[in-house]
Amino acid sequence: MTTTNRIMQQIQVSGIRRFDEAISSVPDIIKLTVGEPDLPTPAHVKKAGIQAIRDDVSHYSPLMGFQALQQAASQYFHQKYGLTYAPNEILATVGATEAVATALLSVLNPGDGVLMPTPGYTSYQPVVAMAQGNLIPIDTTKAGYKLTPAALAATIQAHQHDHLKVLIFNYPTNPTGVTYTKAELAALVTVIKQAGLLVLSDEIYSELTYEQPHTALATLYPEKTITINGLSKSHAMTGWRLGFIMAPLALINEMKKTHQYLVTSTSSISQAAGIEALTHGLDDGPKMRDIYQARRDYLVSRLSEIGINYLYPTGAFYVFAQVPADFNGNSWDFATQLAQEAHVAVIPGSAFGTSGEGWFRISYAASMANLRNSMNQLATWRAQTLV
Ligand SMILES: Cc1ncc(COP(=O)(O)O)c(C=O)c1O
Repeated sequence: MTTTNRIMQQIQVSGIRRFDEAISSVPDIIKLTVGEPDLPTPAHVKKAGIQAIRDDVSHYSPLMGFQALQQAASQYFHQKYGLTYAPNEILATVGATEAVATALLSVLNPGDGVLMPTPGYTSYQPVVAMAQGNLIPIDTTKAGYKLTPAALAATIQAHQHDHLKVLIFNYPTNPTGVTYTKAELAALVTVIKQAGLLVLSDEIYSELTYEQPHTALATLYPEKTITINGLSKSHAMTGWRLGFIMAPLALINEMKKTHQYLVTSTSSISQAAGIEALTHGLDDGPKMRDIYQARRDYLVSRLSEIGINYLYPTGAFYVFAQVPADFNGNSWDFATQLAQEAHVAVIPGSAFGTSGEGWFRISYAASMANLRNSMNQLATWRAQTLV
């Protein structure tokens, strides 16, 4: 008899974390690895959190979250993206991470097929495995790292007997920085609708788009979209652990049970801060976006100068760049050597699935000084290795 769960035995700590830990002992390393804002939580939001502690907001909240939070979220997402979720269709979760897990564990049955464009965010596959779903990757490398209606339709056709149930879709996309226009989304929805798929739409980076406003998928496909969002990126609140699932009531009512038995409710103090962020912090995201945009512009111009190819990022805070053709080794070797010799840490593309091989992810959720120094060090290292 095995002592631990067989499914969990097959699951590893994510490649992002493993790589980050592996290079952490390199002295003076500049880390452009983990995807979390370096900026502080806005002062007015912190103040609301402190006030909540003073006011003894230190008890369980209702399972779904405080009603005032559901109301604030309903209004905020309406104002921002035209979403029309009623307060009781919004479930407050422990970050987007719990939102993804609760949603997938609530809808999947063993053997259900789950489609997912790759390379993609690393936390979906383990949850699909926990729910005993069958993950079917859709390689986007030949289509500019975007999911196209043709590729989606072809995969659906090829797997028509595989109990296809959910498409996991994340945009702006981690790790590629790709995002989608309204017209592109509408074309995808035509295919999705025909197949009757549920969509888990992870829009946690929705405030960070640089070329065009974000279109929420649920505005085009409200009946079967499960929207994931939260305050981690928009309000630099990763440590507060506050996210949302927004979905039609019948789905939310099922998810409420999963959520109860996983976590009961998310932190009351964080919820109080979240009400403030959602009510008086509509400008917080755009202010941070402007800062990230300046960093993105700087980073891509330096990469061009150095001669590193990259995918031009239109959202999130990542640049997906190509391991130089003359480098002898895979993306893990490249990132390891870069860390050890240039003291710059990036994430190997293979951490995002086999289709990420040959690439690496740079996070620009880092100070301008760190970006400047890291690009100088990369330039010097590259010049030396080319000789
Ligand atoms: C695409 C995506 N979804 C979800 C998350 C997790 O967000 P949270 O910190 O709110 O759990 C991340 C974090 O990096 C992410 O990149």
